[in-house]
Amino acid sequence: MSFSHLIDLDDYTVPELNRIVELGTTIKNNPAAYSERCKGKIMATLFFEPSTRTQMSFQTAMLRLGGSIIGFDNPSTSSVAKGENLKDTTKVVSSYSDIMVIRHPLEGSVKAAALTADCPVINAGDGGHLHPTQTLTDLVTLMSEKGRLDNLTIGLCGDLRYGRTVHSLLKALSKYENNKFILISSAELALPSYIKDILKARGCEYTEVSTIEEAIGSLDVLYMTRIQKERFASEEEYLRQKNIYVLDTAKMKKASADMIVLHPLPRVDEITIDVDDDPRALYFKQAANGVYARMALIISILENNLSKQNLISGYTNKDVCCHNKKCITATETYLPHAFKAAGDILECEFCDERLLLE
Ligand code: NCD
Repeated sequence: MSFSHLIDLDDYTVPELNRIVELGTTIKNNPAAYSERCKGKIMATLFFEPSTRTQMSFQTAMLRLGGSIIGFDNPSTSSVAKGENLKDTTKVVSSYSDIMVIRHPLEGSVKAAALTADCPVINAGDGGHLHPTQTLTDLVTLMSEKGRLDNLTIGLCGDLRYGRTVHSLLKALSKYENNKFILISSAELALPSYIKDILKARGCEYTEVSTIEEAIGSLDVLYMTRIQKERFASEEEYLRQKNIYVLDTAKMKKASADMIVLHPLPRVDEITIDVDDDPRALYFKQAANGVYARMALIISILENNLSKQNLISGYTNKDVCCHNKKCITATETYLPHAFKAAGDILECEFCDERLLLE
């Protein structure tokens, strides 16, 4: 049986994206009207990685829709601690629930779970790869604060390499007309080339700079991100990048009066606390919108209003292995070795890592 999962927003059309954003906005204006919409339905939240906002906003969303929740946020209290693999855990939980939300540290893990799940699956963050529901939150926020998802100049700052929120946001906003991106990062934390190629293929203008000061004066939106300690191979590598970007009130003076600051949160020290008092700092409002965006998504999936995707569409070859050590195929070895082919480049269907054909 196939379901309309949310693994990657690229699987949805622009009209589908617009419909979810519109529904999220409508719910925000009158949440009480939706309080019984998912009555009798059960959502499972399986969080194999820490979370505050994503997990709790999903749970709040389901409760506000009249549904119920089950799940864990600490895999060490589940049978994962006994050595159970991802497939068995998620297969079983999917038979207890109507919709399943998964966050996992390995890239491609949520797609892997969807392959065998008996209910629709939502990607709540798979390692440093994608985080599509944060993007829905961001789109609902942009729509309510800017009134549009096109014709925006957006600066994205910080960990563009491992920042799954950035990857998903760029993939979604590049589908809309005339958005321009200014990528603010160090060379070490630059955006992966497969996403730059998506921007190019969609005709999006982007520039890469290394300081906030170079970009801030021309932005409609500044999207700040945390340097993610947990994604680095070593503490030394993290320490070299830590604190390289700090947005403070002095830098905010260089921004236009209607530039808005977003951040998926958690913040560590990349935005000073006094910036919170600036009316352009909207990250707490953005986090609140996460509930409405997720209510809209849950309704759209449970009521079958979204396209169903081919989870594995490309070429499989058991003799070729993905090189990414954080790819789910490296640990769950029963998975097919599936690749999308583009010329002499293969892209892993789970984590998008590129490998050159010999
Ligand atoms: C982000 C995440 O988990 O990727 N947080 C979130 O979901 N709001 C960003 C981060 O952890 O830095």
